[in-house]
Amino acid sequence: LLPLVITAVVGYLLGALPFGYWLAKAKGVNIMEVGSRNPGATNVKRVLGAKAGNTVFLLDALKGFIATAIPLLFQLGGPAGSSGYDLGGVIGVAAAVLGHSFSCFIGFRGGKGVATAAGGLFVLMPLPCVIAGAAWVATFFISRYVSLASIVAALVIATLPWFLSFGLIINGVATLLGLLVIARHHANISRLLAGTEHRWDRK
Ligand code: G3P
Repeated sequence: LLPLVITAVVGYLLGALPFGYWLAKAKGVNIMEVGSRNPGATNVKRVLGAKAGNTVFLLDALKGFIATAIPLLFQLGGPAGSSGYDLGGVIGVAAAVLGHSFSCFIGFRGGKGVATAAGGLFVLMPLPCVIAGAAWVATFFISRYVSLASIVAALVIATLPWFLSFGLIINGVATLLGLLVIARHHANISRLLAGTEHRWDRK
């Protein structure tokens, strides 16, 4: 049990690293008070430009990737091929996304979990992630709403794994993370319905 508890704690702390908040702060901006008031890559890009936004996306995805890959690498859930093996990765990604969304470093506030979930779930289920990524790109280029694209991708992650041969626990966690990401977009959903959501203009 101890390796899994360590996985959860380390995963949470990794996920909680508020890269978007820190990067903006280094540039003299409190990202929690401007734009969508979200410390994620999208808002950093909106406020500080593409380079800063892309950096935050990569760092937020990387922390999810590491939190998931390390427990698998060290077989903290059990030996490769055993029924518990995936458990380390599943706990790692869930803890990282919770850490990102409710970060102890910024008063238990945080981002919406899209990049961190993508980085972690890619380790566990690359095919659904690639399909979700394609759905994200298609939705964004049709609608020009990042939030709508993220919600559609989260719906793919919440449902698609059940049609493929992953284990019950992996599928369950993918569904819960997909639903958490959608729930974290509640303010975006209200704005989308009201027609006031920020739209990215074609360059
Ligand atoms: O990943 C978050 C994105 O879907 C929405 O970000 O800043 O527009 O709320 P934002």
